[in-house]
Amino acid sequence: MNKPKVLVTRAWPQEVEEELTSRYEVILNTTDAPMNTAQLQEALRSHDAVCPTVSDSLTAEVLGAEPLRCKILGNFGVGFNHIDLDAARARGLTVTNTPEVLTDCTADIAMTLLLMTARRAGEGERHVRTRAWTGWRPTHMISTKVTGKTLGLIGMGRIARAAAHKAHHGFGMRILFYDPYPPPAQAVSDVHPKQCNSIEEVLREADFVSLHCPGGKENYHLINAERLKLMKRDAILINTARGDVVDDKALIDALRSGTIKAAGLDVYEGEPRVAEDLLAMENVVLLPHLGSATRETRVAMGMRVLENLELFFAGKPVRDKVV
Ligand code: DGY
Repeated sequence: MNKPKVLVTRAWPQEVEEELTSRYEVILNTTDAPMNTAQLQEALRSHDAVCPTVSDSLTAEVLGAEPLRCKILGNFGVGFNHIDLDAARARGLTVTNTPEVLTDCTADIAMTLLLMTARRAGEGERHVRTRAWTGWRPTHMISTKVTGKTLGLIGMGRIARAAAHKAHHGFGMRILFYDPYPPPAQAVSDVHPKQCNSIEEVLREADFVSLHCPGGKENYHLINAERLKLMKRDAILINTARGDVVDDKALIDALRSGTIKAAGLDVYEGEPRVAEDLLAMENVVLLPHLGSATRETRVAMGMRVLENLELFFAGKPVRDKVV
């Protein structure tokens, strides 16, 4: 029997590409260049499975490719707001993602940003590298204490819960959260959180606000000028979720006018483009979407895609069905 034809849109960790190649007839992306609409459509016409990732745009136009050979989109990543799910459904495609395996590393990046912004680590590093440092003194680069402060989480899924665990048990932080679909009480009982009734309640009470909700239409610019005004003046905003959850322009105004103290961002609306104003600000820490970027996690994500493909081509229910 012929092996299924699988196309991978970006370069994957070597061991995962080797494993994939041993099982299927595979087209890898050896240059790691992003694929355009026409290339993605051609991939859908000529392969049984296409494995995109969070930086590909699987719009209704792309998924409208005719004739469609592809039957499964095995997404490398947990987020799927880059895939038009209605269009995928209409085309009879199965869509899978890679939950769980990236939880800890993404929560670690939220904590990295929290610590870096609070303790002015990016600014301090630039200070040393530019040889501006003239030595220790009692009033030099005074920052904000993290231990014992209040962390407010918008969204209380796996990544938020892992961040809460690290913040509470590692830094003695008090935990607040708001989630329209809250987890069962026992899933969060180890961090003794306060469950808030609204986003606004979290924003008013928290010293640090960390975003953990999905991107896309439902949460577009959830954090806007009005909501930023509710935050404490010395509060810090952390975003490891999706860039479009925050209105960049409102955030820039809030940072500039002192409405909030600082922000730590791993994701951006329209990334890899980052607003010029943010690039010039000392009170923001900017990372290039590094949440899951550890060797261990990226290999695990790839292997999770393989597991879903294996089940699909064996005619069994996939493990991580999105559609
Ligand atoms: C995801 O998986 O959705 C992240 O944003 C990339 O790891």
